[in-house]
Parts: sequence; structure tokens; C-alpha cells
Amino acid sequence: MIKIGALVSGGGTNLQAIIDNINEGKIDGKIVTVVSNKANAYALERAAKYNIEGTVIKVKDYPDRKAYSQALIDHFKEKQVDLILLAGFMVILDPVFTETFPNMIMNIHPALIPSFCGEGFYGLHVHEAALEKGVKVTGATVHFVDGKADNGPIILQKAVEVRDNDTPEILQKRVMEEAEWKIFPEAVSLFAQGRLKVEGTKVIRLTL
Ligand code: GRF
Repeated sequence: MIKIGALVSGGGTNLQAIIDNINEGKIDGKIVTVVSNKANAYALERAAKYNIEGTVIKVKDYPDRKAYSQALIDHFKEKQVDLILLAGFMVILDPVFTETFPNMIMNIHPALIPSFCGEGFYGLHVHEAALEKGVKVTGATVHFVDGKADNGPIILQKAVEVRDNDTPEILQKRVMEEAEWKIFPEAVSLFAQGRLKVEGTKVIRLTL
């Protein structure tokens, strides 16, 4: 059973999907810590409901991004996590963080990378950009995190239809329901089974 740590900033619906999959026996893992940069993140309440330890580590309590990232490193090392999930975490970390945990950090992005990703593409902005471009298909991507935003090896992707009358909010909801809440737990499950092998910039899914 793997030990999972999660970083959150907001509502935590993706965290909820992971919790549900663990409770249904679909992920051989345990969430040992949920860390939020915001004290009022609803994700912390979700964790508390399942007696998962929540911790608030605020950016403003540290002199710079590097010191903040180091505080997170110390925390996750103390908890001896095998996997760290960026589950709607809105802070960009110093490269020291990703270098400390190579191929051990997963992010869920609400678009099909390499579309609509990188700096500035977060939250509703991603869906606004997709609608503005007029794409007919969007989706979600789970990837390992490296030093650059939305850049690391892709683990899973799922496409979602864009409809003519979509608003960013409607599209965001559909992408979450049809893609994010499915592929994020699936990727964690594959990781827990030791079925993800990173070869260069790609992820190979092993059949056991
Ligand atoms: C999701 O859209 C995810 O793709 C992005 O941030 C959002 C987090 O939502 N990285 P939630 O906190 O999991 O509900």
C-alpha cells in the first residue's frame, strides 16, 4: 500500500475522487497528509470527514518560494510519502521541489496537453481559451510533474466533447465529471500497482 500526500488550494473534488476510489478498494493506497496553502480550502473539510490529517502551510509565512518549497519537502519527507498529488494546487513551486521527488508528483490538468496549458492556463481560463479557439474536443490530462508548468511525462488523457452552447463553467463541469474524476484515480491506481514506467519523456503502462 502506497502512502499518498496531496497538495490542494480549493474545492477538492479531485481529492474526493481519490478518497472515494481508495474507499472502494480501487486504489491500493492511503492518503497520509493533505496540505493546503489556504486555511479555508474546502478540500481540508473533505479530508477531515475521513479523518485524514490536514495541514495549512501558507506562502506568506516564508521569505520566498524556495523556502516555501523546502517547507513542503520537509513535510512530505517526514510523512514518508510515495506519491504526491497536485489536486487543484494553485502555487507554482521552486524546481527544488520537483527535483526532490522525480516521477513522484502527479498533476491533473483540465485540457489535452499540449493544448491550453502552461503559464496562465489554470481554472476557468483553460476552458475560456478552449471555447475561444472553437475546439470541438477538449479533455483532461494526468502527468508527472517536472520543472516546467504542465510539461512532464503524460500518464493518461481523456477526451470530452465541446458543445455549441457551452460556457466555461458548463465545460469545466463536464471535463471534471467525464474526465478528471476518472483518470486521476486511474493514474494513482496504476502507480500504486507499480505499472507506470517513465522512459525519457514518456510513460509506459506496464501490463502485469
Ligand atoms: C481542476 O480543474 C484541476 O484540473 C485543476 O484545478 C481544479 C481543481 O478542482 N488542476 P478541485 O479542487 O479538485 O475541485
